Amino acid sequence: MPPLVAVDWSPDGRALRILDQRHLPGAELLRDLVSLAAVIDAIRTLAVRGAPAIGVAAAIGLVVSLEQDSEGHGVRARAMLTDYANQLIASRPTAVNLAWAVRRLLSRAAVVDDDRLLTALRADAEAIRAEDVAMCDAIGRMGLHLIPDGTRLLTHCNAGALATAGSGTALAPVHLAHREGRRVHVFADETRPLRQGARLTAWELQRAGIPVTVLPDGAAASLLRTGAVDLVLVGADRITANGDVANKIGTYAVALAAREHGVPFYVAAPWSTIDPDTPTGADIEIEHRHADELGDLPAGVRVWNPAFDVTPRALVSGYLTDRGVVLPPFSGVTHG
Ligand code: MRU
Repeated sequence: MPPLVAVDWSPDGRALRILDQRHLPGAELLRDLVSLAAVIDAIRTLAVRGAPAIGVAAAIGLVVSLEQDSEGHGVRARAMLTDYANQLIASRPTAVNLAWAVRRLLSRAAVVDDDRLLTALRADAEAIRAEDVAMCDAIGRMGLHLIPDGTRLLTHCNAGALATAGSGTALAPVHLAHREGRRVHVFADETRPLRQGARLTAWELQRAGIPVTVLPDGAAASLLRTGAVDLVLVGADRITANGDVANKIGTYAVALAAREHGVPFYVAAPWSTIDPDTPTGADIEIEHRHADELGDLPAGVRVWNPAFDVTPRALVSGYLTDRGVVLPPFSGVTHG
């Protein structure tokens, strides 16, 4: 099986290429996006999703849309830059990687001349993509010791190859352990309402030949109580300075149940997901999504549909990063 590539440049370099996750597991559709509106729509509708992947998509999307709309003129591109960047940053608020990637391009733009602007932004967007691939590989290596032969692991949402430009965060050590011949069994929470676990994690792991069992979110606590899980490993959309973790809605409940039943709860993320400028989880903007996502409801009924929740630092056994397993304070984190 060729490796999954969820987000990349198109082969001719003129577009953002994504594997459209709205259609998985039924169909593998690649889409090439150039316009800012198309990139923003793909991010908002979760055609491309997962914190690192939306950071890479925003970076490449910013470059290709500026190149097209400015017809390659640096002065025109600079006039559009701030507006395009702000629109991208506003497309999904919770994952820090998106704003981090766009602001990295803005910092570069501030120090280059107009005639070099587009070339410099393209080089930086490619660096963000390539660094993401390398960070996934590093997370895989750094997390391998958490997954000895025979490990039974519970995960929530999809923090795999589909959520990054590379092999994933929480699933990177799982993929690596499997490639090294270790037996590993993954329990994948369904992850309501958009079913990233059932549709995406199950598909990604099955494709790689890794045994996976899907369970409804409401069954996770009961599964943990049976002793069938050695380790919980999830991704993160933002890790605050004190170690609180925003991740897909339902993660907090899993962390509480893991603590109750003595199962280690680890969070995997690249260093770029640590946000030193957000002190605690209470300071994170949580995205709320449309009522339609909950399916058929009585007309006019009220809905509360947060896309993410915050797991307090006290419930986290360790943070698996590309620099190893760490605990707060996360020294040396500086995101301009
Ligand atoms: O709404 P989504 O599907 O983008 O949410 C994704 C998650 O919550 C992931 O766990 C997180 O982004 C980490 S992905 C490596």
